[in-house]
Amino acid sequence: MCLAPARPGSETDTVYHRAHQRESPFVAASLAGMPRGGDRSGNDRHRGLTPRMDATNMGLRADPTDSPRGTMGHRKKAKPVPAPPGRNRRMTKKHLRISILGAGKVGTTLGRLAYLAGYEIGDVVCRSRASARKATRFIGAGYPQAAARATLSRSDLILISTPDDRIPDAVRIILRGAELPAGPVKRRTAGRIVAPSGLAPAVIHTSGALSSSVLEPLRSHGTSIGSCHPLQTFQSPAGTVSLIGRSYFCIEGDDRAKLAAGKLVRDVGGRCFEIRTQMKPLYHAAAVLASGGLISLLSISLEALAMCGLEERDARRVLSPLIQGTVANLEKSGPARALTGPVPRRDTGTIERNMRALSGINQNWLAIYELLTERCFELLCI
Ligand SMILES: NC(=O)c1ccc[n+]([C@@H]2O[C@H](COP(=O)([O-])OP(=O)(O)OC[C@H]3O[C@@H](n4cnc5c(N)ncnc54)[C@H](OP(=O)(O)O)[C@@H]3O)[C@@H](O)[C@H]2O)c1
Repeated sequence: MCLAPARPGSETDTVYHRAHQRESPFVAASLAGMPRGGDRSGNDRHRGLTPRMDATNMGLRADPTDSPRGTMGHRKKAKPVPAPPGRNRRMTKKHLRISILGAGKVGTTLGRLAYLAGYEIGDVVCRSRASARKATRFIGAGYPQAAARATLSRSDLILISTPDDRIPDAVRIILRGAELPAGPVKRRTAGRIVAPSGLAPAVIHTSGALSSSVLEPLRSHGTSIGSCHPLQTFQSPAGTVSLIGRSYFCIEGDDRAKLAAGKLVRDVGGRCFEIRTQMKPLYHAAAVLASGGLISLLSISLEALAMCGLEERDARRVLSPLIQGTVANLEKSGPARALTGPVPRRDTGTIERNMRALSGINQNWLAIYELLTERCFELLCI
């Protein structure tokens, strides 16, 4: 378990960097401000962008998302991109290259924070190129591509944050990039997916419901696989970047993928913990109950208060301190001691009155009340 925020120079950091000790020609060229040499990893494609991409890599202002074919007069102006307070792009000597498949709410948020942490942003793939371009503008870097025709250049880390049922599509895109057995130099890497370091990249997805096993087809091509689920709700990238520092990420998978995921999480300011791969479904059920389940339950309270004559907005306002106090007690002293209400008081008369009130309105609400009351009695016995 690693419940601590980023610790530069920590053992896991060192292990990860040791695995990437051989500096790629691309990084060396970027650092020297030289044009990049083309290779089969797809860097050829970027040649037209080299001076602009290098300017971004060196921390200078540029819009790297502009098409190489775009004319100066029609270049779209980058929107101001929010950064968490006090965070400027950190430039490290060797920056890892990350590509993102599925740059929606989660992918764009993590991409932006990775960029600020000094990562080099590689390919950014969405279903539509327009979405990918929007994401690269928010992130501040990256090469936007549409999924249907995407070919990935070499990356140290590939982050898949498509909807869950689109992860197999993302896997197919990555497999398209497996090196072809052409020429003697390629023989060593034939059929393998390689990172700029020449080593295999780590591929991680951000789904909570699925485990790393959904990435299994990539294993035989030399990649390590894992998942890295942010235990947080993402409503919009702009609104979530500042929440990451207070968020935990659940990590599972191969050792190397876990190291890469843990490093990414710490670099973007989050905290991580590990579970066993086979526990992922139960883990996700727990997360769903704590988030969507809680919202559903509270929606019953809101509707009941509306029946008592309160406007929905007022009902939310009056319940809010009660909910926050309850959550604070839970965090401080655990569920049994945080429990208040008629059950810990063994007040059966009140429980019966509550049930009579609900039964006159909605039988499902009554059933939920009964089940939760049963759970309260169980908690008192734990
Ligand atoms: N949202 C949350 O609160 C949250 C929290 C934790 C974990 N997660 C997990 O994170 C993942 C992403 O969730 P999200 O909320 O960020 O989703 P989202 O906002 O709907 O974004 C999904 C992105 O995937 C792209 N996409 C769809 N099909 C694709 C394909 N075949 N190839 C490449 N890209 C494709 C979409 O492109 P277009 O824009 O072009 O359609 C979009 O940019 C899911 O696994 C989810 O379970 C979400």
